[in-house]
Amino acid sequence: MRIIKTKDYDQMSRVAGDIMGAQVRLKPRSVLGLATGSTPIGLYKELVRKHREEYLDFSQIISFNLDEYVGLSSEDPQSYRYFMDKHLLKDINIAYENTHLMSGVADDLEAEAANYDRMIDAQGGIDMQLLGMGNNGHIGFNEPEEHFIGPSHLVNLSSSTIDANARFFAGPGEVPKQAVTLGFRQIMQAKKVLLIVSGRAKADVLRKALEGSVHPRVPASILQLHRDLTVVGDEEALYWYKG
Ligand code: F6R
Repeated sequence: MRIIKTKDYDQMSRVAGDIMGAQVRLKPRSVLGLATGSTPIGLYKELVRKHREEYLDFSQIISFNLDEYVGLSSEDPQSYRYFMDKHLLKDINIAYENTHLMSGVADDLEAEAANYDRMIDAQGGIDMQLLGMGNNGHIGFNEPEEHFIGPSHLVNLSSSTIDANARFFAGPGEVPKQAVTLGFRQIMQAKKVLLIVSGRAKADVLRKALEGSVHPRVPASILQLHRDLTVVGDEEALYWYKG
């Protein structure tokens, strides 16, 4: 595990942008696992800047996002498809048909998730998986549980996730109660994992995840077992880390 502590959110975004940018540069046909939420917005801005100013070429990149809300179509401004288009995909030269998110409005959501795993397997798995982390330690929408669930699957969102994500909606009542998420198998089989974390609110759970015991009650703790994990966090999230 490599831990990189940065001064603030902007520096975290630039450092993470350099790491993802290098992946794209060194393997132009990379399969990237992408995340949504507020944490990666600065990183995505940085990738767009690198595309425009430094000729970072996404033309052969394939992307698979981590998760999507159940019940929101791709046109819904709260959907993760809409978020990805707005913050990254429309502003780089990725082939749009090579960008993938599970559909939150599929008739059979479990079948949708199983098919998504097959599509990722058919591409040879994920080369670099970008992750944020929830206040409760979730990665993707793998919520604290008694077991680590391997396959991609339908999940009931925890009340803490619903409360945390209410800031993007008119109120907690508007947040979908379910999502489809990548499971731990694809995340752990990714060749590289890049976890980005910002802010004091996540510092204690981040410390538990990286230094505590590996347990599904702290989903991100499984990343201790990943063979190539890089954590980029700002001073607030990593105030406890002296390395
Ligand atoms: C998003 C995702 C989530 C977020 C996490 C942190 O695709 O899978 O695990 O990374 O909820 O969200 P923010 O960055 O908004 O704090």
